[in-house]
Amino acid sequence: MEHVSKAYSPTVPVLEDITFKQAPGQFLAVVGPSGCGKTTMLRCISALMPPDSGSVLHRGQVSDNPPPWMSIVFQDYNRSLFPWLSVRRNVAFGLRGVSKIERAERVEHALEAVNLTHAADLYPWQLSGGMQQRCALARSIVVAPQLLLLDEPFASVDAQTRIDLQDMVMDICQRMELSTLLVTHDIDEAVFMADAVVVLSTRPARVVEQIDIDLPRPRDQLTTKEDPEFLRLRHHVYTLVRQQAQYPHRNNNNKANGPNNSKQEKGT
Ligand SMILES: Nc1ncnc2c1ncn2[C@@H]1O[C@H](COP(=O)(O)OP(=O)(O)OP(=O)(O)O)[C@@H](O)[C@H]1O
Ligand SMILES: [Mg+2]
Repeated sequence: MEHVSKAYSPTVPVLEDITFKQAPGQFLAVVGPSGCGKTTMLRCISALMPPDSGSVLHRGQVSDNPPPWMSIVFQDYNRSLFPWLSVRRNVAFGLRGVSKIERAERVEHALEAVNLTHAADLYPWQLSGGMQQRCALARSIVVAPQLLLLDEPFASVDAQTRIDLQDMVMDICQRMELSTLLVTHDIDEAVFMADAVVVLSTRPARVVEQIDIDLPRPRDQLTTKEDPEFLRLRHHVYTLVRQQAQYPHRNNNNKANGPNNSKQEKGT
């Protein structure tokens, strides 16, 4: 994103001069206070809504419509599944223009990846919250996207399910070599899963800092979270977020392109 600003009305500025980059294959997490404009930012990235100024570039190009190589898991996932379609047909929904045989194969693979093969013939209302979320995830990855946008995907599930979903998503994203953009409130989750974390200010959202997370992969819920580097990074991100809550807009020096980001390349 380059200098993106967006307002819903003159009295509701939401994004203010947002600039950050995502390298191909990078797992980027965005953290920021509730209501600061994270979902609005994803709407701009996915071309569901144009920015008022600035530009969103995918590989150097502006998209006027949601590009076919991008998938979104929405914040309110239980409203995004079709209750009248089985899990299998929900997952197949995005695969238009693909032969019947290929569609069946890809759906089975996606269901396998999220461990839902056994529930393929159930309907969304017959699933637990975690299973519904896995169904939404399967529907997103079945199209073999290059960029996956996740808007608070684990917000409504219990702590253990959340951990299982974090491991599953990291594994899928790594195996499929996806560029992933995860919006989350959870600082531990952001640092644990991502290659870099973008911290946003209170509304209107500005980039406070983009921090590289150079923790080795594969990551493990116990050993990674006990690594002193994980604790240092978590402390740093937590401090920035807390400063935002206490002193909104005090330290918003956009460091997205600073020396901490030497690995960033051309991307979103
Ligand atoms: N369609 C809309 N029309 C007018 N205002 C909107 C619209 N969508 C969002 N807003 C306002 O824009 C601001 C940012 O909303 P947004 O949903 O982007 O925040 P968020 O960071 O995703 O919040 P949360 O963490 O609670 O999901 C809020 O003040 C919200 O009321
Ligand atoms: Mg939101």
